[in-house]
Amino acid sequence: MTPNITASTASDKAEFYQDLELQIQGVVDGQRNWITNLANASALIYHGLRAVTNKPINWAGFYVLDQTTESLATDSTTGQRKDALILGPFQGKVACTNIAFGRGVCGTAAAEKRTLLVKDVHEFPGHIACDSASNSEIVVPLVLNERVIGVLDLDCEVTEGFDEVDQAGLEVVAKILVEACDWRGVV
Ligand code: SME
Repeated sequence: MTPNITASTASDKAEFYQDLELQIQGVVDGQRNWITNLANASALIYHGLRAVTNKPINWAGFYVLDQTTESLATDSTTGQRKDALILGPFQGKVACTNIAFGRGVCGTAAAEKRTLLVKDVHEFPGHIACDSASNSEIVVPLVLNERVIGVLDLDCEVTEGFDEVDQAGLEVVAKILVEACDWRGVV
């Protein structure tokens, strides 16, 4: 099915996020495959936000729960399984592929089950620099039945690239996507 989605003509960010919600509802309509929906959501977020904010956003995409990477998903001292993330659909440059819960901004947001709005990544202990051009970041967990099943991650080349408007908008997007997809292979 080819979705009929028009580009956002929003003039400010709050309006953009209202349009984005509708656009995402549009692309997921009749489609529950998580890879497909996260791929289209990445494109809508990345291109839409760059156009409306003029901020140099350089990455937008997803990491999802990884069921396969034993080395990261096993605690070296206790031998117990730990959750880990693996790179999912995104827009932007090549990114690191595996992130353990508790590591970096993504793994910390996943472990703490809360959005992390990082105004300057150089001040975040353990930040994982996939692209040295990134200076700020926002990570929103995807939560299904109380469990973190992935994260939505955005990077920006300037400090303070994201604010509370982005946080509110992206948290709604994350909820829509969690409900809109079948998570076969992830959970
Ligand atoms: N900076 C992230 C890693 C992922 S990339 O930004 C795409 C982190 O610290 O978890």
